[in-house]
Amino acid sequence: MTRFPISRPRRLRLKEHVRDLISDVRLSQDNFILPIFVNDNIRKPIPIDDLEGHNYYPPESPDLTKFLDYALELGVKSFLIFGVPSRKDFYGSEAWSRQGVVQKAIRYIRRELGDSPVIFTDLCLCGYTDHGHCGLPKDIGGSTIIDNDSTLELYGKIAVSHAEAGADFIAPSGMMDGQVKYIRESLDREGFNWVGIMSYSVKFSSSFYGPFRGVMDSSPRHGDRRSYQMDYRNRYEALKEVMMDLEEGADIIMVKPALAYLDIIRMVKEEYPYIPLAAYNVSGEYMMVKVAAKNGVFEESGIIFEVLTSIKRAGADIIISYHAIEAAKILKNMY
Ligand code: PBG
Repeated sequence: MTRFPISRPRRLRLKEHVRDLISDVRLSQDNFILPIFVNDNIRKPIPIDDLEGHNYYPPESPDLTKFLDYALELGVKSFLIFGVPSRKDFYGSEAWSRQGVVQKAIRYIRRELGDSPVIFTDLCLCGYTDHGHCGLPKDIGGSTIIDNDSTLELYGKIAVSHAEAGADFIAPSGMMDGQVKYIRESLDREGFNWVGIMSYSVKFSSSFYGPFRGVMDSSPRHGDRRSYQMDYRNRYEALKEVMMDLEEGADIIMVKPALAYLDIIRMVKEEYPYIPLAAYNVSGEYMMVKVAAKNGVFEESGIIFEVLTSIKRAGADIIISYHAIEAAKILKNMY
């Protein structure tokens, strides 16, 4: 036995209830946003192979609202809606159609479940265009660029159509310059000044989106997204993007992906502690956990909880995750 006094942090680790008592980063289902995929080409829910455990839902089906109801009961109250349209074209015109898949789904959800679900809508063109880009390609002197300003006009129309259908927050993910300002002005002009914007402010060009592009059939048919999404070799550019989005009127900012970008989450939170910060735990991060757990590499609920807690500890107030239902169950000791 030691006779000299030593510091003993272990005293605070001895009992589970003391560990609970002093823990300062706690997950809550209140902070989760669950992505939902509505698909105009199906009549019943279909499992999504690329995103194990998730389904496509038809936009106007009791199956969709039953699932949202189930999530609400677990305490997951916010949803990020993505749409798979019945047809694609150069402009992605299904994205702003009144009869578009997302618009139909929102109206149906509002009719069946009222205003309690918080509805965020992903605003982008990549799932709707036949070329798979988030903006409109344009030829300039023999090479193709994604044209910024003509794309903004379409984003404005999409935002208004989502707001008309009943969205609470529009979430532009296309990384066009000035998109938040353009969308804010379009919404205000049409009288939707209460509809908010959660901007994908810091969105890196990332291989972690791989599974999602299969889910949405949204891979670019030519080129890649590096001329609009951020280069992950840059750190401080994140602060510039956030600053610009805030000036343009973003209500909530986002860093995406989350896990390989915890340093960016922390930096943004420290610079803007008073702005709600979301982190998107993306499809590739999710599938790494699912595949490894299936292969017995580690125990699933433990790893899910640790991953999500690390994102919160880094500084995220809101976590967008395909694990939201599983994590809510773990929190209720149901997993
Ligand atoms: C659309 C969009 C993407 C994701 C969300 N919105 C993919 C991309 O930029 O290619 C990725 C989500 C995920 O991987 O879970 N622009």
